[in-house]
Amino acid sequence: GSTGKFFVGGNWKANGTKESVSKLVSGLNSAEITSDVEVIVAPIFLHLPYVVDHIDSRYQVSAQNCWVGRAGAYTGEIAPEQLADMSIPWVILGHSERRSLLKESNDFVGAKAANALAHGLKVIACIGETLEQRESGQMYDVLEGQLKGVADSVSSWEDVVVAYEPVWAIGTGKVATPEQAQEVHAYIRKWLGDKVSQDVSSATRIIYGGSVNDQNAAELANKEDVDGFLVGGASLKADAFATICNAR
Ligand code: G3P
Repeated sequence: GSTGKFFVGGNWKANGTKESVSKLVSGLNSAEITSDVEVIVAPIFLHLPYVVDHIDSRYQVSAQNCWVGRAGAYTGEIAPEQLADMSIPWVILGHSERRSLLKESNDFVGAKAANALAHGLKVIACIGETLEQRESGQMYDVLEGQLKGVADSVSSWEDVVVAYEPVWAIGTGKVATPEQAQEVHAYIRKWLGDKVSQDVSSATRIIYGGSVNDQNAAELANKEDVDGFLVGGASLKADAFATICNAR
């Protein structure tokens, strides 16, 4: 496993209203969470300022995306320097929902990661194969292409967390088995060691996402190379999310 702290992210995706977000924030503020874990939550852009102002300091806040360049004439986009200006320390990039629905390529995700890091943000870089790719034996090629997209652009991995999210496990209730997760996490760690450096391989947190819940988190967290989780649905319930944060 990584030498870094266990890491759990709550990706709220495009969920929530002013009311539900304020309830979730109060629930998280009163939840008991071990100090051995780094926890971030990622609301929609519109809710970020509220969450930054109201969530307690045990949690860090993350955006779910950012622009590939500087602030300027890019209608509808938000640049990393603007996130930093709002005291948002993290951004999730390359989520499979954006790769598939918005056609974000490996190179584009890599360029976004480099740009976010250059403006002082920390990055959760997501990778993962579809069921079809897994079943047709293309899984490792796909994962390598996604890793390479990041590695080709990023020069320092200190502020990068890699999230392995098999697409077939996202929002399906079909969680990867601990063995399936461990197998891919070990592959990612070895790839980082071979292609980047031994130091990056041992320091980088490799977290798992895809139907993680309060029932299955502990067993996954026991696996050597599972350094944390990226949680979707279950992160919208404070109690379930707290249990996941305490899974190791
Ligand atoms: O980024 C987290 C995510 O894609 C997993 O979603 O709902 O399967 O936990 P979910």
